[in-house]
Parts: sequence; structure tokens; C-alpha cells
Amino acid sequence: MARVAFIGWRGMVGSVLMDRMLAEGDFKGFEPVFFTTSQVGQKGPRVGITIPPLKDAYDVKELRTADIIVTCQGSDHTKEVYPRLRKAGWKGYWIDASSALRMKDDSIIILDPVNRDVIDRGLKTGIRNYIGGNCTVSLMLMAIGGLFRENLVEWVTSMTYQAASGAGANNMRELVEQMAFVGAVSRKLLAKPATAALELDRQVLSSLHDKAFPKKVFGYPLAANLLPWIDSAMENGQSREEWKGIVETNKILGTRRTIPVDGICVRVSSMRCHSQGLTVKLRKDVGLKEITKIIADANDWVKVVPNTKEETLKALTPAAVTGTLTVPVGRIRKMNLGERYLTCFTVGDQLLWGAAEPIRRMLKIALEYIG
Ligand code: HSE
Repeated sequence: MARVAFIGWRGMVGSVLMDRMLAEGDFKGFEPVFFTTSQVGQKGPRVGITIPPLKDAYDVKELRTADIIVTCQGSDHTKEVYPRLRKAGWKGYWIDASSALRMKDDSIIILDPVNRDVIDRGLKTGIRNYIGGNCTVSLMLMAIGGLFRENLVEWVTSMTYQAASGAGANNMRELVEQMAFVGAVSRKLLAKPATAALELDRQVLSSLHDKAFPKKVFGYPLAANLLPWIDSAMENGQSREEWKGIVETNKILGTRRTIPVDGICVRVSSMRCHSQGLTVKLRKDVGLKEITKIIADANDWVKVVPNTKEETLKALTPAAVTGTLTVPVGRIRKMNLGERYLTCFTVGDQLLWGAAEPIRRMLKIALEYIG
């Protein structure tokens, strides 16, 4: 029976992964072993079967006994442990939610509803590293993967509205603290129905600049604000998050000719759903009915939302999508720019299809492959 090591199962992505695996009854047919960076010897999570005490996530000798390692521990741990493992001759499958190995030649970015062919080819040709993609890229491809599959995309711009969860668990917490701070300082004014909106606005604004405003994690207010920069700077003026759009999309799809992808990535005050406004330059003029069908038929999770105000506001929001695997795409229409310019809007749970779900599914694929 295959031995599967889990590292980083307690963090945010790891917890979502554990929940999904339990919900799908995945803990069968292999031997799970749980690792920890801080609690060696303690009890592991409840997964419905007896498991050994937690082992040391830095112990290469112990990790080497696994056929598959699934890690949500993050890039620093991968950079420290992965090279040592390979150097020690480990030939198992490394399935990783972090970005550390994503762009390496000997790794594949996994999003099987979109690139199962690339994954299968990788397994057959002996690739052993299977890495989760950037959440925004994965969610964009879950949404309009059909257009890429039909070779209809000349280029795409993605203007993003990214949730706090993409920055980390502490950021989610701080966002709520910021909202609470704004709420608390505005309470008195709100209680008086006669308060003018501009007076309330002055109060909110002054709270954002207040020394006591909680912003240790973000560095800036996100509540009642937005932050149009995510991750570090690249030399060409893009942020790293924006750069990932083009490199990861093309790597996931295994394109021969690079399809340009670009846009501006913005952090907004939603909790865990990333949204994106897309502009697609089509390679040819295809009617809206056919386009809609291509988008809707691409996988089991994408769902086209009719372009009406009522349906859009009901189904195409983070509040509607959070906690679900559905990836709605709506506001689909041809733009005034011309018949080959398509726009749409999509929303997806950043912790599910954006992080844990491709990892969960890759584990199943790898287990099936090694039999
Ligand atoms: N980098 C993404 C973000 C999350 O900051 O929202 C991880 O893919």
C-alpha cells in the first residue's frame, strides 16, 4: 500500500485540504503519515483511521519512506527540505501547494480539469513534481478554460479583485479587525439618522489614518479601501502576481506559442473569493451563444450566469460562491471595442480551486498511477 506523507495539514490551505479529503472519503487505500514542524510525537488529525504520532517534517530519513509527499507547509519548508530529499535519492511524487518549485522545468502545475493531458504526459515521462498554481491563474482557467481549449484566445487581460485569504490567515483576521475598528468609531454617528453621509465619510477616513488602526499585517488599511499591488515588484513594472498570469497560464496549458496574459492585480476586502474582470481578444469572431456553450461545457464546476442584474447580483459574488467549488462566469458580452473582444466576470473560492482542490485531486491521480 502506498505511503503518503502530509506536511502543513494544520494551516489554512492544509485544513481546507483535510476537510475536502474527509468530505470525499479520500482516506482509504493508502497509508497516511502526518508530519509537523513543531509538535513531533503528538497526536495527528482525526482522519477516520489509526495513524502514527506526528513525525518531524525536517527528517529526510523519515520523509524518504513515503511514496508521495503532499505539502501545504509553504515555500520556505520546500526550499529547505525538497533538495535534501532528492539528493538523498528519493524518487517519490512531490505534490506541493507552494510556489517554490512551480516554474522549474521538472515540475508540472496541476489543474486537472484544465490540463489533465499535461499531467498524464508528465506522469508517463517520469516527472515527479506536481505543484499547485497561483490561485488567480487557476480560477481564471477554471472559468474560461474552454476558450483556451478551443484555441480561441489571442490574448487576455485579467483585472483582479483578490481576497484577503490570498495574503494569508493573519490577513483575514486583520481585515475583520479593520472592519470592526471602522464600525466602532462610526457607531455613534450611525445611530443618528440625521448624520450626513459626508460626515460619516470623514469619520471613516480619519479612522483609516488613526495610529491605532490595526494594520500590522497588511501595512495599510484594506477595509474601506483597496490595494492595487500584490507581491513583490518585477523589473518591467508588473507585480509578481501579475507576472504569474502569463507564465503560469502558459505552463499549465503547455502552450507552444505564448498566449499573452496581463492585467492589474488588486487586493479588495472580500474574505476568500478572488474575482476577475476579463477581456478576451478572440482569434476569430464567434457568436455569443457558441461562446457561452464553450465556456459552460469546459468542466463540471464552471457555471454560466445569465447577464441580467438579478442573476448577477445573486450568483456572481464572493458572498454567493464562498465555500463552494462552483466557478461562475457572468457578464458575458461582446464589447464596444469590436466583435472579437469579449468581456466576462468570474468569481472563485481561492482556498478551494485556488489552492486545496487541485492538490487533493492530484493525490488521487498519483495514487491511481502508481497503483
Ligand atoms: N498570491 C495570491 C494572492 C494567493 O496573494 O492572492 C496565492 O495564489
